[in-house]
Amino acid sequence: MTTNAQATRPAIQVENLTVSYGPKPALLDVTLSIEKGLLIGVIGPNGAGKSTFIKAILGFVKRDMGTVAIQGVSAEKAKGLVAYVPQRGAVDWDFPVRVKEVAMMGRYGHIPWYTDPSPDDWRIVDEALEMVRMSEFKDRQIGQLSGGQQQRVFMARALAQGSDILLLDEPFAGVDAATERAILDVLENAKASGRTLVVVHHDLTTAGEYFDRLILIKQRLYAYGPPRAVLQEDLLSQVYEGRLRVFSNLIKKER
Ligand SMILES: Nc1ncnc2c1ncn2[C@@H]1O[C@H](COP(=O)(O)OP(=O)(O)OP(=O)(O)O)[C@@H](O)[C@H]1O
Ligand SMILES: [Mg+2]
Repeated sequence: MTTNAQATRPAIQVENLTVSYGPKPALLDVTLSIEKGLLIGVIGPNGAGKSTFIKAILGFVKRDMGTVAIQGVSAEKAKGLVAYVPQRGAVDWDFPVRVKEVAMMGRYGHIPWYTDPSPDDWRIVDEALEMVRMSEFKDRQIGQLSGGQQQRVFMARALAQGSDILLLDEPFAGVDAATERAILDVLENAKASGRTLVVVHHDLTTAGEYFDRLILIKQRLYAYGPPRAVLQEDLLSQVYEGRLRVFSNLIKKER
């Protein structure tokens, strides 16, 4: 449930966030405030700290410094306010579980440990699978799906959770054009229903088209704003060293 106080707060507020796994920080002093109801892309090269940023919002990684608030609630206490679709390599696809059971995992936070899922839980799961167009596969083992289909099932799990905020780590990685379109439709529908979506995305040629705002990071936050303001040659050349010619074309296209 969203209280009045939550309604006026930013969806996600990050202040002076620093996260390190070793001697060099993966994220350094990142501060930004994400408004509600937008579709937001996170861009930056491999190793830039994009997944770490998502994990820090979820409270999955330890912060060296800084704060993360979800609708005004600290990340540690905000479990359940945020749904997460991990980067695909991070999932064990051999785990013997059926599609509808994966989607039902999204409901676990709502189901008391001593009961089975209610008819309402199953209805929500069915709707989520319908949204991602995976209903016909609901009895299939997750390991027996294509990569793009698995990705959509994980989106159904996140949707079934019913959270206002969805974080997705590279949902478009390795999917074909049709699946990419289907996933984008799901993201846009989720946004139309008032959700805030933060999506790690590596394709700069579509970033300007897909998202309302872009977050450009490489250890530090380089820019946060509308795609036109972020897809600037000077910014991109600082972040993606040595690939500037590609970006000159890209920027022309975006303008
Ligand atoms: N569990 C970990 N232990 C040690 N170092 C890590 C760990 N996870 C990430 N790192 C390091 O932190 C940095 C940021 O990693 P992160 O996964 O956040 O980058 P990314 O932007 O998501 O990259 P990619 O585009 O390849 O997914 C990298 O240098 C990475 O090697
Ligand atoms: Mg990553």
